[in-house]
Amino acid sequence: MWFSNDVSQETLLRHCYHLICIKISGEKTNSIFLKYPDQLMIGSVNETLFRDVSRETQTKGNRLKNNYIADMEQGLELIDEPLMFKDLVRRTTKDNRAYVLCTLSDRSGQMSGVYWDIPDQINQVLRPGMVMFVTGKVSRYKDSLQIGITDSYPHDNPDLTDFMPGASRTTAEMVEELKSLIGSMQDPWQGFLTHLLLNESFLSRFSESPAAIAMHHASVGGLLEHSLSMARLAESAAANYPHVNRDLLISGALVHDMGKVWEYTLDGEFGVSDDGHLVGHITRAAIHIESEAGKYGKLEGEDLRELLHLVVSHHGTLEWGSPVQPKTLEAILLHQLDLMDSRVQGYFDFLRNEPGLDGWTPRRSFMHNTHLRAPKDWT
Ligand SMILES: [Fe+2]
Ligand SMILES: [Fe+2]
Repeated sequence: MWFSNDVSQETLLRHCYHLICIKISGEKTNSIFLKYPDQLMIGSVNETLFRDVSRETQTKGNRLKNNYIADMEQGLELIDEPLMFKDLVRRTTKDNRAYVLCTLSDRSGQMSGVYWDIPDQINQVLRPGMVMFVTGKVSRYKDSLQIGITDSYPHDNPDLTDFMPGASRTTAEMVEELKSLIGSMQDPWQGFLTHLLLNESFLSRFSESPAAIAMHHASVGGLLEHSLSMARLAESAAANYPHVNRDLLISGALVHDMGKVWEYTLDGEFGVSDDGHLVGHITRAAIHIESEAGKYGKLEGEDLRELLHLVVSHHGTLEWGSPVQPKTLEAILLHQLDLMDSRVQGYFDFLRNEPGLDGWTPRRSFMHNTHLRAPKDWT
């Protein structure tokens, strides 16, 4: 197979990356196509064939990102940049040309996008959660950055953790902190939390689940990040106020949202499972904790009831999803700490997803019901 004179040099150069990938991955065919990135061989391969070749070479992790959304600036040209499509709105212009408004994301953040004159074959298969190689340009539209897409084609086998927002800390680091917190408690709390949280099958789900699908901690690992943040706040509260049962409060912080591992799905994008819709994370956690306490055998009576009360009352009121209001010192504290951590992280997440001009967000935050101003040292 050879290049053709009727394919423009610009088009060929756009695909050089794939050809280099073929060479790196050890395919024998590489020298047929290209010897150097800037030196073209003349032959009979058209653009479509190029793409087929590049698709065949896609394997998980072999196509690294060149640009992350958090670092993108006005004027940046994207060439076959892997990005996840979200929130698609299909429209047509007055003269009947199809276009799509969308949100594009990777693990660093998200940005709005517009895909003018989207080809039919792409428009028919495009759905939220798909990762595509995107060509286009970053420009400014109404005080926000936006990607104008000129071309795209599907990524066959993406590693989803590259395209969904990730926690700000590594899993290993967070698991280490979890173990150390549990190790600082007395029994029966230490033994029960080891039994409940540190078994391998639960821990792997606990450490990748988001804490929400929007608003705050909507990231892979967000649930563990939120739970640990709550536990650190609980430690401070226990040191600040008299009469607080420190181990109970920290236990409540670590397990209050554990039901979210069954409530949310991570299939391409964050979603709510049938169990989440029909049972919900509060009830699911209470059922699971009671069942596991039975197997553990040493957390019972008043201790178990107080822990269950923390779980079922942590949303504070019936309209916010708690079947009972907080009625103990630890439950009153836990509800306030949950509110504090979700609001503060919701503020940071909104600043990251809606960066504006002069330190102000361009849109109102749904959580905070106003435009938000970034801290002086925000970057
Ligand atoms: Fe909750
Ligand atoms: Fe929470």
